[in-house]
Amino acid sequence: MKNILITGGAGFIGSHVVRLFVNKYPNYKIVNLDALTYAGNLENLKDIDQSPNYKFEKVNLLDADALKTVFTTHNITDVIHLAAESHVDRSILSPLDFVYTNIVGTVNLLNTAKEFWKADLTKHLFYHVSTDEVYGALGETGLFTETTPYSPNSPYSASKASSDHFVRAYAETYHMNTVISNCSNNYGPNHFPEKLIPLFINNIINKKPLPVYGDGLYTRDWLFVIDHAVAIDTIFHNGKINETYNIGGFNEWKNIDLIKVMCKQMDAKLGRSIGESEQLITYIKDRPGHDRRYAIDATKINKELGWKPSVTFEEGLAITIDWYLQNTEWLNNVTSGNYANYYENMYAGR
Ligand code: NAD
Ligand code: DAU
Repeated sequence: MKNILITGGAGFIGSHVVRLFVNKYPNYKIVNLDALTYAGNLENLKDIDQSPNYKFEKVNLLDADALKTVFTTHNITDVIHLAAESHVDRSILSPLDFVYTNIVGTVNLLNTAKEFWKADLTKHLFYHVSTDEVYGALGETGLFTETTPYSPNSPYSASKASSDHFVRAYAETYHMNTVISNCSNNYGPNHFPEKLIPLFINNIINKKPLPVYGDGLYTRDWLFVIDHAVAIDTIFHNGKINETYNIGGFNEWKNIDLIKVMCKQMDAKLGRSIGESEQLITYIKDRPGHDRRYAIDATKINKELGWKPSVTFEEGLAITIDWYLQNTEWLNNVTSGNYANYYENMYAGR
């Protein structure tokens, strides 16, 4: 019997991880802890929120007393930690928000777990979900491996790198059982439309300009979100204690090529003439400190744990676009309220 605390479970990746664990492990209790920031949305979980093995706790990672209460109330045995401020552009505008949630919040959670599990730390696991951005930027060639030195370039990646270091330090200093995974760019249903793929799907639907940063030749390695959730399940159950695993899609795309594929697929699905949405492409001022290329070497998780992506990019993108076209209410809800202010602030004058 496990009582697993999943943090950030109302967000994009976290909601897919919660759903997978709730459905696959009826004997585990899954406790979703989330502060419900702009990025957290309980609508993401409405298909499973009545399940008997699911509980939700609206708690901020910065509230140490509330964390302690959650551990005690649910007798938490393990943690999968995803809650974070996750958008690079927001981190450039407000770095301290990222320091508080990603660094201080992670240390609060580590402290709470360490204290609650102190009778026997070896019986419990603290799984920290991180990003490939901690490794910095690649040139035209090469891949990030688990031994690539950390070299974060944005306030977001610096805060994630710092949280990774704290997790490592708690393993060394206090002998906590930890594991860290560093994943490449995810895409899929429930992705908040501030990130490239869902933002551009929303703008194409609404025939708004598609704001391409710089020369558009930046490269990302895209992974379907459910494949990431399956990788987390695999590492949680079979990964080696105190190891790091890189997770990636073996799927590199230059932004502009990816955007053109999206435009073509959406023109076909929306009954528009092919080429119509490409007219919306607008090159704008670059993101400061923009990392040129990310690409993951996922050999270790593949060889040691047998994980590999199950969905091709063509399939995953089609599923994703269809989901947004069929879930207009979800999209309308998350783009009402403060979203217009965010968009205006982020893109005005670029
Ligand atoms: P997201 O922004 O969609 O969701 C983050 C969730 O955390 C939200 O539900 C939010 O309400 C919650 N949260 C934020 N601050 C909190 C706080 N102080 N206390 C409690 N909850 C809080 O993020 P995501 O894209 O799903 O990313 C999840 C994790 O995966 C993050 O740790 C991120 O660094 C990592 N990651 C993301 C990607 C990606 O491509 N999106 C890739 C690799 C790793
Ligand atoms: O690599 C993993 C990371 O991927 C995660 O850790 C982050 O949480 C996640 O947000 C993502 O970071 P990126 O910065 O790579 O993702 P984003 O969707 O913001 O941008 C992807 C690429 O598209 C990047 O080169 C910037 C570019 N871009 C993005 C936006 C929002 C544009 O050209 N225009 C845009 O409007």
